[in-house]
Amino acid sequence: MAKEKFFITTPIYYPSDKLHIGHTYCTVATDSIARYKRLRGYDVLFLTGTDEHGQKIEEKAREAGVTPKQFVDQIVEGPGGILDLWKLMNISNDRFIRTTDDYHVVAIQRIFRKMYDNGDIYKGKYSGMYCTPCESFWTESQLVNGKCPDCGRDVKYAEEEAYFFRLSKYAKPVRDLLETGTFLEPASRVNEMIKNFIEPGLEDLCVSRTSFSWGIPVDFDPGHVVYVWIDALANYITALGYENDRYHDYADYWPGVNIVGKEIVRFHSIIWPAMLMSLGEPVPKKVFGHGWLLIDGGKMSKSKGNVADPYLLAERYGVDALRFFLLRTFPFGSDGNFSNELLISCINADLANDLGNLVSRTTAMVQKYFGGRLPAEQEADDAMDAELVSMVSALHARYGGEMDRFAPQNALAEVFKVLSRANKYIDENTPWILVRDEAKKPRLARVLYNLLETIRICAGLLTPFMPDTAAEIERRIHVEPATWESLGQFGLLPADAAVTPGEALFPRIDMDKELEALEALSAAQKEKAAQPAKTGVPPVLPEVSIDDFAKCDFRVCRILACEKVANSDKLLRFTLDDGSGAERQILSGMAPYYPEPQALVGKKVVAILNLPARKMAGLESNGMLLSAERDGKVYLTILDDAVPAGAQIS
Ligand code: MSP
Repeated sequence: MAKEKFFITTPIYYPSDKLHIGHTYCTVATDSIARYKRLRGYDVLFLTGTDEHGQKIEEKAREAGVTPKQFVDQIVEGPGGILDLWKLMNISNDRFIRTTDDYHVVAIQRIFRKMYDNGDIYKGKYSGMYCTPCESFWTESQLVNGKCPDCGRDVKYAEEEAYFFRLSKYAKPVRDLLETGTFLEPASRVNEMIKNFIEPGLEDLCVSRTSFSWGIPVDFDPGHVVYVWIDALANYITALGYENDRYHDYADYWPGVNIVGKEIVRFHSIIWPAMLMSLGEPVPKKVFGHGWLLIDGGKMSKSKGNVADPYLLAERYGVDALRFFLLRTFPFGSDGNFSNELLISCINADLANDLGNLVSRTTAMVQKYFGGRLPAEQEADDAMDAELVSMVSALHARYGGEMDRFAPQNALAEVFKVLSRANKYIDENTPWILVRDEAKKPRLARVLYNLLETIRICAGLLTPFMPDTAAEIERRIHVEPATWESLGQFGLLPADAAVTPGEALFPRIDMDKELEALEALSAAQKEKAAQPAKTGVPPVLPEVSIDDFAKCDFRVCRILACEKVANSDKLLRFTLDDGSGAERQILSGMAPYYPEPQALVGKKVVAILNLPARKMAGLESNGMLLSAERDGKVYLTILDDAVPAGAQIS
């Protein structure tokens, strides 16, 4: 019989910076659910990816003096980038979508046109309060104390010609969908959406921009790019082949489950289903809005210098310990406060004590008392055994129920109740006393057998959370990787079960010493981060046609003046002679590399002249200077003095 399909996704993350422990939390949680579903026998497709367009990334790239594509390539595919992080964290995604992938770009253009053709997208004029970092327009009533309701920063009045999506038309069906009670979870988020967004009235949504160019062009109206939310949300279906030829399994896997952070529940539970309704496609099976990891009760932010680094933590404590901690400690639907103390005490209490000790003690006793293999001659279970056995036997169903409710923390709590009961069972049975009496050996063998069975079942259920640790435990007790059915049956190990003891799975950590060491490490890391990054030689980019190249107007320019821009660390303002007779102003992120900008006056440089004009730090930039980068250093391309200004480069 064909397996039932299950499609699950994380949000696609912005590659505007390195990802932190918050992003890791969402991806690890989604991975554990995907692995659980595979264990249950589903044919799972797990998707994650990156959301690469938009003004913020365009600006960051400009500041860094690279193209937006080079900028995101480095963060996504470069050393220590997003792909590396997911590999390190043992993420089992089947696909990875980048919104700059060709197939996605084509599909978005088709989707946009489809919605335009059916009348759900129309052209109008937008005016409102705009938050640049969040790339969101807000109505006056949505502002909180005059600031952006998402990030709390200043907003400014903005106006532009734009395309709109008739979101208002879908208010009723979206409300009905939210009220089913199964579409959006946890339930508390449903009321939030209805009260804050549906009841005040859904307004049509601005879905194109002319104010920046780093986006997917609206193919029937050059100058407009598709606003990021249409581009981003549709990733969940373009990655399955919707409106493109790269993949062909949309009909098999859609609708799926979208796991998202609480701050983007609005987009996923209102705009996303409305978009799908407009396209005549099924809405997601479920949107689950998880809570945030906070630090000191507040948001993680680079500026506060408190962004916990998943690389550092995984390297220090092991990937499995970090994965486990994240899901064991924080209830998935609500916010939680991250701290190193919590992490260390979780490793000590649950992993070193409860799990690690149980495995070490049990396997060591089988080795010591029976040479590594239990005798088949064993006593029948007594009442104390029956209690443990019934608890272990019930675990499978309880755990499954919690996982199906997207409550990994409860599923883990069930496993750890059993593990601590098993440790108590050792103390109650005192195997070290039983061993002294030859006649009690069959009883001793039974006790150890029951412990091995408990370990087998718990290890199998821990597989979605700690894949490597579970496999290591299975190796030590000589069992094959678990199947779901095998975890529901107590007594599957042969009576003469054998073991191979090993090192402590999770050594205990000295809390005080460790906190001190972490402090020192984080200071060293901050210092290192302040140094320019070492990047090596990037690979050659994909081919472009000679026609595309010929469209770029590269010119020799002479630097007439060059100075630092007052309110920016990075920008230099160049006044250039481009050969036309008029002066040209270009801003470039060269300040860190040219501390004496006036020394550049008179030099001949290369600029691309036909990029759209851009405002940076309040000044207009008309083109971009070409530069070369290697190992974190950036150099202007400076030509021989003899080349005249205005000469075209081809
Ligand atoms: N690109 C959009 C999402 C588009 S989805 C079609 C975006 N990207 S993001 O890089 O900002 O990632 C947001 C997601 O990362 C959150 O929704 C959440 O899943 C995760 N987290 C980011 N910070 C987090 C915490 N501090 N805590 C928990 N999760 C966090 O929004």
